Amino acid sequence: MPFVNTDFKDDLPNRVDIIDIINRRVPLKKAGKDYKACCPFHHEKNPSFSVSAEKQMYKCFGCGEGGGVINFVMKFDNLGLVEAIETIAGESGISVVYDENAKPVNPKFERYRALSKAVSDFYAQQFRASPAKGKAVNYAQNRSISSEIAERFELGFATPGNKDLLLNFEKNAQSTTDLKALGLVKTGEYGDYDFFRDRLMFPIHNSRGNVIAFGGRAFDNNAKAKYLNSQESPIFSKSKELYGLYHARKHSRSIDYILVVEGYMDVLALHQAGISQVVAALGTATTIEHLNILSRTTNTIIFCFDGDKAGKKAAWRALNITLTVIKAGMVVKFLFLPDGEDPDTLIKKESSKAFVKRIENAQPLSKFLFSHVKAEVDFDTIEGKTLFLEKVSTLLRKINYETYQQQLLEGLSREVNQSVRQVKSILERQNTPTQANTFDTSQNYEEPPMFDVYNGNENHQTPASVKSNNSLIDQMIGLLLNYPSMSDETIELRVRKINNADVLQELASSTLLQEDITLETMIEPFPQKRQQLLDLYNKKKVLKNYDYKGEFLDALLKIEEKQKEQSALLITNEAEYTKSLQARKGKLKS
Ligand code: UTP
Ligand code: MN
Repeated sequence: MPFVNTDFKDDLPNRVDIIDIINRRVPLKKAGKDYKACCPFHHEKNPSFSVSAEKQMYKCFGCGEGGGVINFVMKFDNLGLVEAIETIAGESGISVVYDENAKPVNPKFERYRALSKAVSDFYAQQFRASPAKGKAVNYAQNRSISSEIAERFELGFATPGNKDLLLNFEKNAQSTTDLKALGLVKTGEYGDYDFFRDRLMFPIHNSRGNVIAFGGRAFDNNAKAKYLNSQESPIFSKSKELYGLYHARKHSRSIDYILVVEGYMDVLALHQAGISQVVAALGTATTIEHLNILSRTTNTIIFCFDGDKAGKKAAWRALNITLTVIKAGMVVKFLFLPDGEDPDTLIKKESSKAFVKRIENAQPLSKFLFSHVKAEVDFDTIEGKTLFLEKVSTLLRKINYETYQQQLLEGLSREVNQSVRQVKSILERQNTPTQANTFDTSQNYEEPPMFDVYNGNENHQTPASVKSNNSLIDQMIGLLLNYPSMSDETIELRVRKINNADVLQELASSTLLQEDITLETMIEPFPQKRQQLLDLYNKKKVLKNYDYKGEFLDALLKIEEKQKEQSALLITNEAEYTKSLQARKGKLKS
């Protein structure tokens, strides 16, 4: 993002007329020396929105909104600061002064964006006119996508041919090179081919509306990859983009909240139902960058997840990231849908009104935090409560926003029925570095710690058997990071059944979701484990022409066997116990 020169920004309101800028958006009526209108930011019948030419400020006496011209355009057009400045300057015929220190814009980027737009137009044209379009049109119809929504999101069709896109652009050698840089054309054993084939295409826009990448949905639910996404490129970084943000800003009257959903189709279906304040992460877990972008756009971020185990887990990860970045004025909530539903399926079964009700009733972060940790412990016992207290304290320590931390602390003391002072002293004790931190598993092991982001805190009494599982898991993580392409559905499925291997499971599924995934993309969802993951990567890196997959499968098998033994042991113990119980009962009888 370019940096606007500070002097230019400060001076801009003096160089334009707020009356002029607002009047283009909301017709104003002269009233005395001020101007009046019905407020665009809340619903009203009598005008309480007033603009002062003298002060160059606006103010609504109904809802309290007020400020200068930049603030107005940011709110009304749903724009960021730089975009608002550019808009105002553009409408007033002034050229923006950017900071000299800002990096010059690489001409390549402009070319990539223009090409992405041309590709998007090509796919859209195929959706309308290709002889094979029937498939795509039927698919869209079966999923009840209206033509208005298809147009709004510029949906397209990647035809089944191997080179249809390539052939369309091949006259221009530069375009062919650029298509490869964007990952839209790949080079294989038999030459160049289109990356997206036989798919419904979703152009991905940045917040300014430029097409920067694509997602493609297979028509067949059983396809190897249901969705494919463009690879990372100089103009596309998955962790920094949110699908639908541009459309949310464009089609929502105000952005008092933003709903974060999981998929492309969820965004479309909600728009179709009239709910446009919605974005989706692009097949990645929520990142700090996502939260920063969202907090610049809205005050209230509502994460919407499936009510099942995977959804809860994703929500918990989002909560953990949120704690590290939450700041004044930022509200984060969680909305859990009924098991097995996503917004796309649910909004087809119930009215938008009912869905909006769900949004309104979303859980505050604090409620989800307490209830989640409570469910992890046996809260009715003193030991469980102790664990609860310590676990929550550990989480609260992540928060930099002091007022909020204090509020949560008070909430926590209410939960455990103790004084704030007592609870605070626990928090402070945990903060003392001289005391061994019993909650950091890494200090209790001679082996590298096990990668268990979500549950890692409760394993300080890990039995020896699990310890050696950890080193196997670490070994597998190292291999997978170096050689992601070895992953396949069978591996992913087997990995998913391993106990306490969340990071490995996440990695295995991310390698499946994205072809040619980069190391950076793989480790990005785990900011706190970054160094450890890089260490594991480097440990395995040196080996060339090595049977990575063989080693991986060996380790996998070992773990599976151990796990089987362990559960067999449990069953035997139980059987023996029952037997002895019966024997004793027998004795009593005789
Ligand atoms: P889901 O698997 O939850 O699918 O993926 P969905 O959104 O409900 O898709 P439909 O309704 O079956 O079409 C959620 C999101 O995860 C990413 C995509 O961004 C998708 O929208 N994803 C999923 C991938 O990137 N690749 C996949 O293979 C699957
Ligand atoms: Mn779905």
